[in-house]
Amino acid sequence: MSLLVIYDEKGNFLGAEKEHTKISEDLEKLGVIFQRWRTKSIQKEALQEDILEAYRDEIENINRTFNFVSMDVASITPDHPKKDELRNMFLKEHTHSDFEVRFFIDGVGSFYLHIKDKVYAVVCEKGDFISVPAGVRHWFDMGKTPFFKAIRFFSIPEGWVANFTGSDISKIIPDHDSLVSSWLKS
Ligand SMILES: [Fe+2]
Repeated sequence: MSLLVIYDEKGNFLGAEKEHTKISEDLEKLGVIFQRWRTKSIQKEALQEDILEAYRDEIENINRTFNFVSMDVASITPDHPKKDELRNMFLKEHTHSDFEVRFFIDGVGSFYLHIKDKVYAVVCEKGDFISVPAGVRHWFDMGKTPFFKAIRFFSIPEGWVANFTGSDISKIIPDHDSLVSSWLKS
């Protein structure tokens, strides 16, 4: 289940929302696109080309709006030898000159959007499409036992380039595993 939890910059809880349509509406007011797409059954061993081919119609559709120059599939499993290193890199607050667009075809991960004096934690799951606007401070937490597959769309040839803010705010706000255990496990 997808989830939005809002905090102030000290990590104090301000509110939460589990209803997908409501999350989309709340995020739209912040310039963030959050949609639910239909997912396809794709084999675990599927190659990047097979995944992009399976979602060709959706990709063509989104490209008509955004003119992406490239895309790839990011994939991580709990046995990845560099999972801690990768997690820590994305955990540092950063911005991009380009917007960051992800479509989760499997698994789960949390985007944290730091907008004005609030942090919007968005737990994304299979079927979620999210676009973080250019210049928005954010970080991503895949958790201690990461599992997700996501199509990443790029509108600049350089791809993913992060400008780190140097802030430690991601250490103050509850992490992905806390969000899941507090809100999504009954
Ligand atoms: Fe980013």
